[in-house]
Amino acid sequence: MISSGTKVCCIIGNPIAHSLSPQMHNAAYEAAHLDFVYVAFQPKNAKDAVMGIRSLGIVGTSVTVPFKIEVMRYIDETDETAQKIGAVNTIINKNGTLIGTNTDWIGAMKALEEKINVSGKKVGVIGAGGAARALTYGLSQKKAQVCVFNRTRKKADQLVSDFHPVKSADLKDINLLQSMDILINTTSVGMEPDENVSPIAPEGITSQQVVFDIVYKPQETKFLQHAKKAGATIVYGYKMLLYQAVEQYKLFTGLQPNIDIMEKVLLNR
Ligand code: ATR
Repeated sequence: MISSGTKVCCIIGNPIAHSLSPQMHNAAYEAAHLDFVYVAFQPKNAKDAVMGIRSLGIVGTSVTVPFKIEVMRYIDETDETAQKIGAVNTIINKNGTLIGTNTDWIGAMKALEEKINVSGKKVGVIGAGGAARALTYGLSQKKAQVCVFNRTRKKADQLVSDFHPVKSADLKDINLLQSMDILINTTSVGMEPDENVSPIAPEGITSQQVVFDIVYKPQETKFLQHAKKAGATIVYGYKMLLYQAVEQYKLFTGLQPNIDIMEKVLLNR
């Protein structure tokens, strides 16, 4: 039961009504009989939200669109990982000090590594936005050979300049796409309600590849449908959502969650 001693965690984002994070975290708290609760907030701006977290003593915060970059200005510290990625998706309240970190890259690597060891593999990252940065960081940590394919080449060049020796390429370079061991869509292309589009032509995908889409709504995107048709191994986007939340749970509570219970929430949505 919620009492005056209950520890409060939250997610901040806008919009937030459709977030599955509260159900995921609360299901795991309940399973572990933890005196924790996780709620969703839709603040007007990052500054006021961080002030609220501080003054109300919220112990752990998940940060989502559009606040991942802006919160960095108002928290007390940002760890090296979040600095390199350039975004915070997690705030830990350590005795009143708000520390920002990022678990998105760990979530993505855990999802991929259920299917393939990424070390030394040629990986095509599609897109060059914030999500691409988190993935490129993770893949670089795992010693993969990363190539960033983006519609606007200049944006890909900007990203790779921060991640030596990552290369950039044109999104239409089918031969180069085909030569990758792993392809990852980090753009929002294919997300509801524009479900019928894929970030690359189906010819870019081969049966030898592992194909991962970070889009999780719908679960099976057009890109993954193309991959399935090609006979590739596929990795669903909801797995990244799951594993980034698992890392947050560990940071918030200091304990290991029941992952199956968290996954069930995502599968039964
Ligand atoms: P986020 O921070 O969520 O990753 P973002 O910074 O807006 O989002 O980045 C979106 C990425 O998706 C960009 O790389 C963008 O390509 P451009 O740099 O050419 O804009 C890519 N993207 C968005 N819509 C796209 C589309 N229809 N086809 C191909 N790439 C697209």
